[in-house]
Amino acid sequence: MTEPGTTAGQAAELARLIRYHNERYHALDAPEISDADYDALVRELKALEARHPEVVTDDSPTQGVGAAIVGATFSSVTHRVSMTSLDNAMDAAELQAWGDRVKRGLSDTTRAAPIAASYVCELKIDGLAMSLRYEQGRLMQAATRGDGKVGEDVTANVATIAVVPKRLRAGAPEVLEVRGEVYLPIDAFERLRAAKEAENLERVAAGRKPEPVPVNPRNAGAGSLRQKDPRITAQRELAFWSYQLGEVVGGPAFASHHDTLEFLASIGFPVNPEIRALATLDEVYQYCAHWQQHRHDLPYEIDGVVVKVDDLDQRERLGFTSRAPRWAVAFKFPPEERTTILRGIQVSIGRTGRATPFAVLEPVFVGGSTVGMATLHNQDQVKRKDVRPGDTVIVRKAGDVIPEVVGPILSVRPAESEPWEFPMICPCPLRTQLVRSEGEADTRCVEPGCPFQRDQRIIYWASRGAMDIEGLGDRTVFQLSDAGLVEDPADIYTLTVEQLLSLEGFAAMSAEKLVASIAASKSQPLPRLLTALGAKGLGPSASEGISRAFGNLDAVMAASEADLATTEGVGPIIAASIKRWFSVPAHREMIDKLRAAGVEFGNVVVSRLPQVLVGKAVVVTGSLNGFTREQAEQAIKDRGGKSPGSVSAKTYAVVLGADPGAGKVTKAADLGIPTLDEGGFVALLDSGELSSASSPQ
Ligand code: IVH
Repeated sequence: MTEPGTTAGQAAELARLIRYHNERYHALDAPEISDADYDALVRELKALEARHPEVVTDDSPTQGVGAAIVGATFSSVTHRVSMTSLDNAMDAAELQAWGDRVKRGLSDTTRAAPIAASYVCELKIDGLAMSLRYEQGRLMQAATRGDGKVGEDVTANVATIAVVPKRLRAGAPEVLEVRGEVYLPIDAFERLRAAKEAENLERVAAGRKPEPVPVNPRNAGAGSLRQKDPRITAQRELAFWSYQLGEVVGGPAFASHHDTLEFLASIGFPVNPEIRALATLDEVYQYCAHWQQHRHDLPYEIDGVVVKVDDLDQRERLGFTSRAPRWAVAFKFPPEERTTILRGIQVSIGRTGRATPFAVLEPVFVGGSTVGMATLHNQDQVKRKDVRPGDTVIVRKAGDVIPEVVGPILSVRPAESEPWEFPMICPCPLRTQLVRSEGEADTRCVEPGCPFQRDQRIIYWASRGAMDIEGLGDRTVFQLSDAGLVEDPADIYTLTVEQLLSLEGFAAMSAEKLVASIAASKSQPLPRLLTALGAKGLGPSASEGISRAFGNLDAVMAASEADLATTEGVGPIIAASIKRWFSVPAHREMIDKLRAAGVEFGNVVVSRLPQVLVGKAVVVTGSLNGFTREQAEQAIKDRGGKSPGSVSAKTYAVVLGADPGAGKVTKAADLGIPTLDEGGFVALLDSGELSSASSPQ
């Protein structure tokens, strides 16, 4: 026995945890923690063992991979060539360190110059490792990785995967084992999840218990492969990429990894088209950085890049550690999914009174930032996911998408937990009853004087798509509202520098700047003003049509519902909503205040062009043939877009003319932002879309 509290005790505890999670992941397909949390445990144990080699045991999880098969329902298969795992590199420095180890491993004292390795970079598909065995060109067996030595026989299920060849084209070796990844494409996963959720709603309605819903494509893929009935697997649209050889008897000899991949493709195996052979570690890093930026452009999930030494002789010389090959490394992307504790569920009130439930979380670092809150969308979503305060939940933040709670981990749910009930009371100080109308997904606060709705209306008024007032964000609106300085959006136009100075965080400069940007917004074009009013359904495109048809706000107010309904971009529903909005006395008062403040009601420099660039920022640099700089920027603005002077992560595209600014070009390349030439720019102005020729640098 090891003593708790000692180093050996700590190592034993970490080993126990790792083994436990190995089993949940590999054998039971029911992980309780995210991959990132698992990797962190392994790294901690490795670091501990490196500092204290005396605590390393033969059966430490750092000395092998995966989990032994427990309670298998499939017969076991002993791999003739073991299926090892890979060591990870979490950043450029760790990648460099791996590259240095490779170089050192290959340096030969009898040679003068060190031997340079070249590499093959592959996407790290987030699926399930599979070994396919062919004899005389026929698929004989498909086996999972298991613990690396012994896996499970899933031949009948894998044989249902359309892209897995059952017979190989001529030229195949007598015996050929091909390793690769079985995965579920994202759209197939979405369909499966939607179907499962719908089934669960029916189950619950019939008084039965809901079944676990797959939380991500990997999990769904694993479940699909482990079906006892291959007919179910066949419906799941699984796919496969090949990336490595196992046992091979006969056939051609290969000198490099990329030769083997080409050969595999030639005899009928799917080989991922993004695989590249690259000469230097710098290029390898570029490849990793590119795919980290663009991982969501793919129709399947990846969690990193696998970098392999290309030359097979060099691989031979580098060999393996107990756990993984020295000739390959997995460059891992920052995790987009983490597990954390759901502390509670609260409700926020939007500008139209919609009550949106959101999760209050034990903060976790995910998708590149720390997340403490995540949306739960609406009442039905909470019901469908059955997330409860106290649950361990999976949190996902992918790309620019707002963080969301994927679902609970049922195996660790506290025994006393209860389903969450939607509180039917507005969280604002007025505490009015909320309502959910028959057939509606949303629950709402219908109190016109609700201060939470009011704050949101002001925030919306100032937002980018509406009056676009720089410096008037959520925080400032809450401050103004708490200080009693604003009751509705019109009140911002009478704010003074002195009033702003009384608020925390304002100094003379920032106060003057805000007053100036509020004043500047008075002459925003009519479509923006109409959008800012916030009538339900009255967005930028309906506002555009109305502005064109009526020309000023007074004419819009005077228009009949029938006239509004026949306007371009409007219909009977929006027309009714607009009439209703103008009939509210508080709204008419607000219009009077806006008029008194000098807000322009008829600024119809309305563009007659389709608003294809709304919400998109396009940076122009260098000189173009057909446009002066001003004309190019105006062309972007005329289509609803923005043309800022610098490139940031929010930039949609960068237009490169002759002699572009070097800083902008590099920044675009670093951030993976598409660049366009003048032809691409013209196409963008026309369609709002990037033409296929535009590419990240
Ligand atoms: S090569 C000895 N290549 O990542 C070489 N693995 O952490 C072993 N994976 O078990 C694997 N894409 O499930 C390799 N292009 C790729 C991969 C890949 C995904 C998975 C595979 C493996 C795990 C290693």
